[in-house]
Amino acid sequence: MKGNQDSMKYLFEPRGIAVIGASQTPGKIGYKVVENIVTGGYREKVYPINPKGGEMLGLSVYKQIADVDGTIDVAVVVVPAELVYGALEECAKKNVKFAIIITSGFAEVGNVAEERRITRFARDNNIRIIGPNVFGVYSAVSSLNATFGPGDVTAGNVAIITQSGAIGIAMIGKTKVEGIGLSAMISVGNKSDVDETDLLEYLTFQDDAKVVLMYLEGIKSGERLVEVLRKATRKKPIVVIKSGRSSRGAQAAASHTGSLAGEDKVFDDIARQCGVIRAEGIQEALNWCKFLADSPMPTGEDCVIITNGGGIGVLTADACEKYNISLSDEVADLKKTFEDVMPSFGSAKNPIDLTGGASPEEYDQALVAALRNENIDAVACLGCQTGSFDADRFAKIAEERYAQYRPVKPIVFSLFGGEEVERSIAKLKEKGIPVFADVYEMTAFLGALYRDYRNKSVPSAEPARVDIDIASIDAAVARARADGRYFLLAQEAQEVMRAAAIAIPQSRIAHSPDEAVRYAEEIGYPVVMKVVSKDIIHKSDAGGVALELVDRKEVLDAYEAIMRNCRNYKADALIEGIQVDEMIQSGVETIVGARQDGAFGPTVMFGLGGVYVEVLKDIAFRAFPLSREATLNMIGQIDSYPLLLGVRGEARKDIDEVANTIIKVGWILCSCDAISDIEINPLAVYDHGEGVKAVDVRILLRESEEA
Ligand code: ACO
Repeated sequence: MKGNQDSMKYLFEPRGIAVIGASQTPGKIGYKVVENIVTGGYREKVYPINPKGGEMLGLSVYKQIADVDGTIDVAVVVVPAELVYGALEECAKKNVKFAIIITSGFAEVGNVAEERRITRFARDNNIRIIGPNVFGVYSAVSSLNATFGPGDVTAGNVAIITQSGAIGIAMIGKTKVEGIGLSAMISVGNKSDVDETDLLEYLTFQDDAKVVLMYLEGIKSGERLVEVLRKATRKKPIVVIKSGRSSRGAQAAASHTGSLAGEDKVFDDIARQCGVIRAEGIQEALNWCKFLADSPMPTGEDCVIITNGGGIGVLTADACEKYNISLSDEVADLKKTFEDVMPSFGSAKNPIDLTGGASPEEYDQALVAALRNENIDAVACLGCQTGSFDADRFAKIAEERYAQYRPVKPIVFSLFGGEEVERSIAKLKEKGIPVFADVYEMTAFLGALYRDYRNKSVPSAEPARVDIDIASIDAAVARARADGRYFLLAQEAQEVMRAAAIAIPQSRIAHSPDEAVRYAEEIGYPVVMKVVSKDIIHKSDAGGVALELVDRKEVLDAYEAIMRNCRNYKADALIEGIQVDEMIQSGVETIVGARQDGAFGPTVMFGLGGVYVEVLKDIAFRAFPLSREATLNMIGQIDSYPLLLGVRGEARKDIDEVANTIIKVGWILCSCDAISDIEINPLAVYDHGEGVKAVDVRILLRESEEA
């Protein structure tokens, strides 16, 4: 981490910068980059490089980088793709630390070999690459605008990392319009070397960046990203827009950036696990970033809505449910707080409805009462244009009270109405006050703030660990490998379950009627019996299965019947014995899985199981390892969770054992590199204290043995 921090500093605070391909022709990218650096106020030396030499924008143009005397930490490369390798050779001679390669025409158009060649050269010569295929880097701390985007960037405290160049350039302009100041903007392009994780790691500890916004399409090294995100979200809010939510979008993202978009549900759950605040779109993300940078944290969960209109109050209450914000329902306390200002026909139930006739003074009084009450943790203040509503006066009150109470608790505003209301919104926004024209937008922001608050208030917990008999797992895997299989047979999968002490149905193979009875009595009635024969694939068709055998007599009869049926079915079949299985008691059918995810590395999955899992898709994912608390949180995330709590008078199910099973399955995967996928479906879950049973287990191996 320290190494990354030290070296990355040169990108954001270079002691000298060269532009290779600087052009004296206005309108060319090589001109614009130099112009932006100069007009942006970069205080260190700028060296335009072009074989033609000469002068531009008051600077000497050097024919080659080797002619420069001073230190150059960063070179912006704006020559055509076929000249980039040569430009890097020049950079290496001058000990340049970062090359920002704006040039397109590499992996994004299939020119993977050339991208690899330049990346290898850079690595061998200690040059870090940003890009290729980027629009550049902006860094407020050194007033450096090394981009070909807009020249006029407002410095501030939001850092943006973007995988899309066009979105990034547009965001420079958009943030200005929205009154958002930037501490940094980095375009990562093809991410041939430096990626969003390296940058996030640096920005986490850079004080100027109060919020980090990331626009992502595909993820290449998700395992590291998860690790860095977990730490970063503890220090500051991290807002992420990840495109490719839909399968069409994911395909478009993959072809746009050439990186794996991954399954969106996996990303969504892992982002939640890491404490990331995920926005649906750009406007929403910008709304949040603008105010997250400056907002105090709530100190608890109780919010109060103050409104002069019942309708917008109700709409906001709906929005609070959607964005998981809890409204205070301490009726006595609310009544006491607002009794002086509440008309007899108003409502002291949350939302607090002052009614349409409320004067600005009454509104102010109610607002102050809410802000002073220590039991109220956040206030949403709504103004609806009515006959007596004075938008200007409302704006003044909002401004004054916001300034006074901003350090104490979060206050958000929403105003709804005509021209003068819109004017007040614009005025308040300009002053950095969180005001929104729509109650859903306001509540979404409050929801984002609460996500950040809750993430920071959960103490970080150590991963839960379990003992596993790794030698037994390796032995089962070795047998499959020796057989040339990429999957384990049912018995091998059961051995793996036993190695982690995951309960499986009991099963024995009997070779005589008496042995079958003995096994049935050891296992306990009722039992199931099945023929064991490689020559009989469809056991039921052959009459080779008997269910629900409840006593000795039924077992003896079934043994004889199975033998007879199978001989009649196929006279020459080799019958190895008859399997006596525990008859599975029905429980809640769940699914537990673990896999090496292409984007995120080891991940675990839990959900409602059985045959409808594909249709219902009521599942949750997490990056592994996991603490016990985080595992329980994952279990609680699925919609069917009430089934585990017990519905209609049923007992609570053994949720602790479900958590243990998820943790065990995760560690099996992590302990054995050869295993790529484990799926238990169904995992039958019984009443609390009675455990779980892995009824059906599938285990797949990686295709390459080296893994
Ligand atoms: N060292 C320094 N300068 C050199 C060298 C050299 N070895 N060789 C040539 N040059 C000069 C050229 O003479 C030229 O300067 P001039 O205008 O004085 O003649 C300058 O370098 C640029 O070379 P050109 O051949 O004119 O190239 P051009 O400017 O047309 O294109 C560019 C270069 C911009 C890098 C282009 O190849 C490219 O990749 N464009 C796309 C950039 C892009 O969109 N990136 C992604 C952004 S993100 C997004 O999606 C918005």
